[in-house]
Amino acid sequence: MTEAAPSYRADALIAEDIEAYLAQHQRKSLLRFITCGSVDDGKSTLIGRLLYDSKMIFEDQLAALEADSKRVGTQGQAIDFALLVDGLAAEREQGITIDVAYRFFATEKRKFIVADTPGHEQYTRNMVTGASTADLAVILIDARKGVLTQTRRHSYLAHLIGVRHLVLAVNKMDLVGYDRATYDAIVADYRAFADSIGIAGFTAIPISGLAGDNITSRSAETPWYDGPTLIEHLETVEVDQDAAADQPFRMPVQWVNRPNLDFRGFSGLIASGTVKPGDAVRVLPSGKTSTVSRVVTFNGDLNEAVAGQSVTLTLADEIDCSRGDVIAPADNPPQTADQFEATIVWMAEEAMLPGRPYWLKLGTQTVTVQVQAPKYQVNVNTMEQLAARTLELNAIGVANLSTDRPLVYEAYGENRTLGGFILIDKISNATVAAGMLHFALRRAENVHWQAIDVSRERRAELKNQKPAVVWLTGLSGAGKSTIANLVDRKLARINRHSFLLDGDNVRHGLNRDLGFTDADRVENIRRVGEVAKLMTDGGLIVLTAFISPFRAERAMVRRMMADAEFIEVHVDTPLAEAERRDVKGLYKKARSGQLKNFTGIDSPYEPPEAPEIRIDTTAMSPEQAADLIVERLLEMER
Ligand code: ADX
Repeated sequence: MTEAAPSYRADALIAEDIEAYLAQHQRKSLLRFITCGSVDDGKSTLIGRLLYDSKMIFEDQLAALEADSKRVGTQGQAIDFALLVDGLAAEREQGITIDVAYRFFATEKRKFIVADTPGHEQYTRNMVTGASTADLAVILIDARKGVLTQTRRHSYLAHLIGVRHLVLAVNKMDLVGYDRATYDAIVADYRAFADSIGIAGFTAIPISGLAGDNITSRSAETPWYDGPTLIEHLETVEVDQDAAADQPFRMPVQWVNRPNLDFRGFSGLIASGTVKPGDAVRVLPSGKTSTVSRVVTFNGDLNEAVAGQSVTLTLADEIDCSRGDVIAPADNPPQTADQFEATIVWMAEEAMLPGRPYWLKLGTQTVTVQVQAPKYQVNVNTMEQLAARTLELNAIGVANLSTDRPLVYEAYGENRTLGGFILIDKISNATVAAGMLHFALRRAENVHWQAIDVSRERRAELKNQKPAVVWLTGLSGAGKSTIANLVDRKLARINRHSFLLDGDNVRHGLNRDLGFTDADRVENIRRVGEVAKLMTDGGLIVLTAFISPFRAERAMVRRMMADAEFIEVHVDTPLAEAERRDVKGLYKKARSGQLKNFTGIDSPYEPPEAPEIRIDTTAMSPEQAADLIVERLLEMER
């Protein structure tokens, strides 16, 4: 067993001159890596070994040191290796590592942050989270077992997330008698797999986490191995930030810094490349150009700044630039587009709803996005492509998506910052997915908006009215159709041009292909929203009678319409009352189990929080309700 060789130099420096120590620490590059494997593969042991052998500085210790440089008391504590491993294992048992546990350690040459994620398939989302910032992934293999399903899954995920360096750590070599043939066979096996999924290269190292072989020092037990030790490799592999420095300059603007009228700067973290005063730049998506005047930081102006630094740029011209914009070289800007193909990793309990509007956050940009039904889903164990209508928790699929505003982007393979995104549920604010843009769809460029000479105002004027959408929502049997029908008649009587879109009717034609799953209801409302929008462009007053059970889609339709043209009417009939009336006999069927996914029974209804009009049908007749709505419409004309 190779025992730890603590770096006394570091200890001495901490004790003598904490400032010097921290300064030295600051200059070191930082490698972020992820360990993939399960407890059985010896992951805890390996991490414990790395922390122990590298004479670790725990994150809390470092924080304490940085917070109070006079408190030198914590340095150089001898941590018992076995105890450390026990601690890591215990954390796992308590479920602490269900999320991602980040650990900090440092050697003389480099600082490290290791993301430790659980290896099981149900933790795919955690692994994706951990890998998303990693420069390198250590894929652990038990030498007795060789390449397993999970090895393939972990490798596929790491590769998918764009981790540039893979280490195949063939562990527990002590348990196979340090047998070279066993090791070679595993490496060959893995190479065949890696080739098949497009992994360009990897570094294989025979190790023993427990015995310490080839971790910090070369093991005498593997004379046939002449590659680096694990630590050597981790200390010398190129980190993403250094690689990013060589790429074209990109800085997503985080905020506009305007402390007074004389200063206007654009602050952000440089995602790639370098920038210096005098550089000709372009602001995306507007395309406006200018020249960098100053590169400002808290510690004064810089002659040049590089990827990974947070800076404030001032420009020579007063051009528009705000949060979410991207500053790039004038002659080499990234693209903008609003339709893409992307890989999506679904991370929420609730399955993806194609067509539902989600927030998409990419760098500092936030837009509304709709994801189409997946083209396929990937079986993460076999990499097979499977047909799928949606993506469930931990599922990975490829789908097209469209955003409501152009995104400044780059393919994820070229730039993780401008190609990686997350999706956020608009109601719960939870992160529901992570994604990677592949490319923009050409149709986004080639389909233009055709200008029509007769304006929507002119069409409305011809009809002598103001267009509007009266959106009735409520349970089945609440009375939506009855009320809408009355409103339609009353409007016709006073020479208003209206049109009624009714759920049951539209489902016989345009939406004949849709059923009553959540996904189908979302699509139902999306299409009806689009049709209603077109009708208002034609100058009509549109009445809609759909259950439209979800807030998200009602909000989406509201946003599609011009200001104040959307009147949400909650036809508020309690479930018990709708069920008592049971006009179509559907509640009875639903209760007896003959009808699945029935709203209010086994499918949700989310009542409006602030409808323009609420109608309590237990207190008001359909006639009265219709009058109320017509009055509201006439008020709008005045
Ligand atoms: S929505 O939820 O997608 O907005 P929509 O208003 O189009 O529903 O259709 C609802 C009508 O379809 C109901 O009034 C009812 O007549 C019929 N229907 C059939 N099956 C169901 C079901 N499982 N849930 C609700 N309504 C259903």
